[in-house]
Amino acid sequence: MTAARITVNGKEAPIAPAAPHTTVLDFLRERGLTGTKEGCAEGECGACSILVARPGVNKPTDWVPVNACLVPVAALDGQEVVTSEGLATVEAPGTPPVLHPVQEEMAVRGGSQCGYCTPGFICSMAGEYYRPDRCAHAEQGPDAAEGAGGTDAEHGPNGFDLHALSGNLCRCTGYRPIRDAAFAVGAPTDDDPLARRREEAPPAPVATEYRQDDSAFVRKGTLAETLRLLRERPDAVVVAGSTDWGVEVNIRSRRADCVVAVDRLPELRELRVESDHVEIGAALTLTEIERRLDGTVPLLAQLFPQFASRLIRNGATLGGNLGTGSPIGDSPPVLLALEASLVLADADGEREVPLAEYFTGYRQSVRRPGELIRAVRLPLPLAPVTAFHKIAKRRFDDISSVAVAFALDVEGGTVRKARIGLGGVAATPVRALATEAALEGRPWTTESAEAAAEVLRGEGTPMSDHRASAGYRAAMLGQSLLKLYAQTTEAVPS
Ligand code: FES
Ligand code: FES
Repeated sequence: MTAARITVNGKEAPIAPAAPHTTVLDFLRERGLTGTKEGCAEGECGACSILVARPGVNKPTDWVPVNACLVPVAALDGQEVVTSEGLATVEAPGTPPVLHPVQEEMAVRGGSQCGYCTPGFICSMAGEYYRPDRCAHAEQGPDAAEGAGGTDAEHGPNGFDLHALSGNLCRCTGYRPIRDAAFAVGAPTDDDPLARRREEAPPAPVATEYRQDDSAFVRKGTLAETLRLLRERPDAVVVAGSTDWGVEVNIRSRRADCVVAVDRLPELRELRVESDHVEIGAALTLTEIERRLDGTVPLLAQLFPQFASRLIRNGATLGGNLGTGSPIGDSPPVLLALEASLVLADADGEREVPLAEYFTGYRQSVRRPGELIRAVRLPLPLAPVTAFHKIAKRRFDDISSVAVAFALDVEGGTVRKARIGLGGVAATPVRALATEAALEGRPWTTESAEAAAEVLRGEGTPMSDHRASAGYRAAMLGQSLLKLYAQTTEAVPS
């Protein structure tokens, strides 16, 4: 195994002497690349965004923006990153750098005031600038790239999806000039080095064993090796995108003797649509799932834009969201409504567990020490009436107070089958079994919806905390069902 190295803005550098828990952010700043900023250190502000070369959806490589404050630099052994400093180009020695098109637009449209958030916005914007299907849209003609009007409030005439910036916060500028800049960028030119880089494969994952004193960051090359290691070290912390563990390290100062990365294991990165089920690898990022499914599972398509931010979705995985067992994770309600099961693997083999039987208590599950979530399976066919309602204080990049997912089979005006997943109303995500029973076999009418909404208000054991009171949470459950009914019928319940 060779010494751990990372390529930053085209130059290779050793990762040592960084500690195994050192973040990419701290590593970069130690090396003088102080354009990458620390705001929150917990994945909520985007000041630390950088671009990582990852396997692409429509080209061999995508430039994927991630939060550098959450990712251990050892996780990028052998990988290639670009920071805001690496976007501008120097055309001749001694001449000032030529701004990248997104930097240029941000500058001329007043998208930067104090500048603290700007490098992060620039990297998120650059990720969207190089997204191949956006480029195809922008190439339709120079007129399409003019102005800030956009085809709707969140999508520009140049194909720019403002959700790309949902994880970037700015205190000064007021966002409109930033949106103007985003909606004004054109398509990359043929000689753009980062656009050309997309045509080659990204660096392959490399096995890593990065040790210092008594702690280690380990990435094995295969699932079998990983499972053997987890059998020897059942105490190891398993990470994929590190969007949860990174917060523990930064905010709660947690450290682990052994961190095991699973995010590049090919066995955890498959996505298959079979005749009777969809199987989603536990280590695919939410962005990869969203783009590869492309609406095949409408309830998941409703979930993704509401799950944290694009920056987080570029690293977060279903395996991680289920593995942490949080009662307010956004994916479990949806997966419960979809009747998902989990494929759990250990060194002896695999077993399949219905998600409804997976959670056993607050952040506890039937997953045994040494066991990994390999994949999530969704049975087909899918229920035709689905909705995901996330009740939170902000539309994006927030934690839910309550989350409700519905999957209803309504045939001939009668509810044949109802599956409802809830988050934020108990120590674990739960199915709303009493409400499902109250709906099944009943006509899909105002009266049934109101009666079932009353049952739904009594599901779970919601608590009062700083996000919401128990009464509010219960009220939102009922409203959620009435909203679904209103959305699916002409009649609006009284
Ligand atoms: Fe705020 Fe990383 S410093 S997201
Ligand atoms: Fe000051 Fe955004 S320009 S925080």
